[in-house]
Amino acid sequence: MARILTGIQSTGTPHLGNVLGAIRPAIQLAETSGDESFLFIADLHSLTQIKDGAALRANTYSVAAAWLACGLDTNKTVFYRQSDVPQCTELAWYLSCFYPYSRLALAHSFKDKADRLEDVNAGLFAYPMLMAADILAYDANQVPVGKDQLQHLEMARDVAGRINNKVGREVLIEPEALTNEATMYVPGTDGAKMSKSKGNILDPFADAKSLKKAINKQIVTDATPLEDPKDPDGSVVHQLYQLIASESDAADMAAKLRAGGYGWGHAKKDLLEALVDGFAEERDTYNRYMADLPAIDSELKKGAEKAGAVARTTMSRLREALGY
Ligand code: ADP
Ligand code: TRP
Repeated sequence: MARILTGIQSTGTPHLGNVLGAIRPAIQLAETSGDESFLFIADLHSLTQIKDGAALRANTYSVAAAWLACGLDTNKTVFYRQSDVPQCTELAWYLSCFYPYSRLALAHSFKDKADRLEDVNAGLFAYPMLMAADILAYDANQVPVGKDQLQHLEMARDVAGRINNKVGREVLIEPEALTNEATMYVPGTDGAKMSKSKGNILDPFADAKSLKKAINKQIVTDATPLEDPKDPDGSVVHQLYQLIASESDAADMAAKLRAGGYGWGHAKKDLLEALVDGFAEERDTYNRYMADLPAIDSELKKGAEKAGAVARTTMSRLREALGY
């Protein structure tokens, strides 16, 4: 049985793009693959950006609540906080000592900011070594990641290979990246890719009032009069509706837009209803968890115990090989 492992950054509140593009597909994969699955919240990576303890903690809880609300089964998936398994930071140090400075300097996570060196902390520079540790500590075989993370994964393979080579045996397992070509693209309210950094998100766990405000204020539509025909394909309202409504409801909205007599205001109202109703159960569960943080802690602690046991085994193997 292969072990699949992936990490989720906890730098903000999860949005519709995260839910449709990452959370649901990962849960589906865990349910259907028959492989062992490890999923963690990368709250140590978040520290490279977030220095406010309260914000860091709140983000971790909201990301955890989103996964639990979308149906993550913690009896089947080992679900934990990165920071609850300290072996990972210890391993990151060992890895860093085997990895050349010149290679790390090529990492996109660093290079993207290299023209503003005053914003780069040592943690950000070493980011790929912490990510490699996340993977190698658990003997993961497959790591589902977006294309932007492929270089980091290559570094994880590279550093594992260097250590194996040096000690003359396979103490660390070289992981494979798993990319899904068919990942969903969720547009934001401005038509660009939905992203927390662009201020164009819809939060499916928000209440109806906030969702209504976001849809009405953020989605800009043209001034075509109510009675005129409209093109559904070029419209963000219809694109978003298509992603969450049933096929027949989406076809219905397209037909009404093309026929005329149905305005953007109507379409926005239908989108709002689809979001409010379509995520009603998830929203309830999300709110229940957010009102009971010890319940989230206890789910994550259960995962940390299982993950910690695996990491301790890897670390004793490696420490012995390195001379400790
Ligand atoms: P953001 O762009 O908001 O910072 P992240 O980079 O943290 O989001 O992405 C977390 C996960 O959610 C990744 O697996 C990413 O592919 C997925 N994701 C993010 N935005 C979208 C989107 N607009 N459509 C589809 N998937 C997305
Ligand atoms: N760097 C990844 C991202 O930004 C998150 C991450 C941290 C990760 N550690 C990982 C992903 C280990 C896969 C495996 O999305």
